[in-house]
Amino acid sequence: MKNKTVLVTGGAGYIGSHACVELLQAGYKVVVVDNLSNSKPESLSRVQQITGKTLTFYQADIRDKPALTEIFAKESPSAVIHFAGLKAVGESCAQPFLYYHNNVYGTLVLTEVMNNANVKQLIFSSSATVYGESSSPQYSEDFPLGAINPYGRSKAMIEDILRDLSAADKLNPTEFPWKIALLRYFNPIGAHESGMIGEDPNGIPNNLMPYVAQVAIGKLTQLSVFGDDYPTRDGTGIRDYIHVVDLVKGHIKAIAVLDSDKYATGGCNAYNLGAGRGYSVLEIINAFEKVTGKTINYKISPRRSGDLAECFANPELALKELNWKVEKNLDDMVADTWNWQTKNPQGYV
Ligand code: NAD
Ligand code: UD1
Repeated sequence: MKNKTVLVTGGAGYIGSHACVELLQAGYKVVVVDNLSNSKPESLSRVQQITGKTLTFYQADIRDKPALTEIFAKESPSAVIHFAGLKAVGESCAQPFLYYHNNVYGTLVLTEVMNNANVKQLIFSSSATVYGESSSPQYSEDFPLGAINPYGRSKAMIEDILRDLSAADKLNPTEFPWKIALLRYFNPIGAHESGMIGEDPNGIPNNLMPYVAQVAIGKLTQLSVFGDDYPTRDGTGIRDYIHVVDLVKGHIKAIAVLDSDKYATGGCNAYNLGAGRGYSVLEIINAFEKVTGKTINYKISPRRSGDLAECFANPELALKELNWKVEKNLDDMVADTWNWQTKNPQGYV
C-alpha cells in the first residue's frame, strides 16, 4: 500500500477532508480534485497540519474531461474515492438539472477518464437515501431501492451506472475489470478529534447536528424538532448517526478489499456504513446538553416532508466483507462536534 496513490474527488469537503487524513496516516499518497463549490482550501491546509504530510491539490471540476485526463496522466492513481457531489435535498428539488448534471454527468466523465487510464478501482459515496419504503426500519443492502427526491435519485442512478459498468466486464472480459464499492452512508456527524477539520455548512444548516451545534453556540436561536408524533419511542425521528472518522475508516478498509483476491475478477457491491442502532432527535438534544453543559432551545414543529420515522443500518455485510464496524459512541460524536464548533465558530473563515 505504501506509495499507492489515491485520487480523492471532493477531498476538500466535510467527509473528503477526514478521508484525506486517514489516507495520509495509512501511508497513501493523496491527490485531491475539488472545484471548491462547497468547500475551502483551508480544510486541506489543516489536513496537512494534522498529519504532518503533504498532498497534491487540483482545483478542477470533475466534469472537465481534459483537465481530469491530464491529472490522471500526471498522477497515475491506482484507486479513486469519489466524494464530489452536491448534497442538499431541498436544493435538488428546486434545481434538479444542476444535481443530475453535477452528480450523474460528473460521474460519467470521471468513469470515462478512469476507463481510458485503466484505473478501475472506485469507491463511491452513496447514501441510505437510495432505499425505498420498507416495512422494517433496519435497512439491509438487498432492500428495494426507491429514492424520493432528485438528490437521492442522482445517487441511485450513479449506483445503476456503476453496476452496469461492472456487469459489462462479464460480457467483454478484460485484464482490468471494474472493482467498485458503493458505500451507503447513514448519518455522518462529528469531526476530527483535533477540532481542526469538521462540517462547515453554507448558510443555515439543513441537518440536525450542525443545527444543534449552532443553537448551542448562539449563532441560531432555536431548533425546530420536525414532528413529535412519529411511531417511535419518544415520537421524534430516529436515525443512525455515525462518526465521520469511523465512516472514512470504512473507505480505507474498502480500498484494501478491492485490492485483495476477493475482487480479483472484479465486481460492484453495496455496503451500508452505519452503526446499526438509532437515536431520536430528543436523545441527540439530551446528549448534546449533557456533553456540553449548554441548554438547547427547541420547539416542536410540524413534520418535514419526505422524512421517515425511523431508519438505521444493518451493518453486518460491512463487518463480514470489509471487516469494518463503528468504534465511536454518541458522546464521542457530540464532543467532537462541539470541539470543532467552539474552535471554529465561523467555520473555516
Ligand atoms: P461536501 O459538500 O462537504 O463535499 C463535497 C465536495 O465535493 C465539496 O468540497 C465540493 O466543493 C466538491 N464538489 C462538488 N461538485 C464537484 C464537481 N463537480 N467537481 C469537483 N468537486 C466538486 O459534502 P460531504 O458531506 O463531504 O459529502 C461527500 C459525499 O458524500 C457527497 O457525494 C454526498 O452526497 C455524500 N453523502 C453525504 C452525506 C452527509 O450527510 N454528509 C450522507 C450521504 C452521502
Ligand atoms: C437528510 C436527507 C438525506 C441525506 C442526509 C444526510 C432529507 C429529507 N433527507 O437525512 O437525503 O442523505 O440528510 O445529508 O433532507 N431534524 C429536526 N430539525 C432539524 C433538522 C432535522 O428535527 O432542524 C430531524 C429530522 O426530521 C430527522 C433527524 O432530525 O428526524 C435527522 O435529520 P437530518 O440530519 O436532516 O438527516 P436525515 O433527514 O436523515
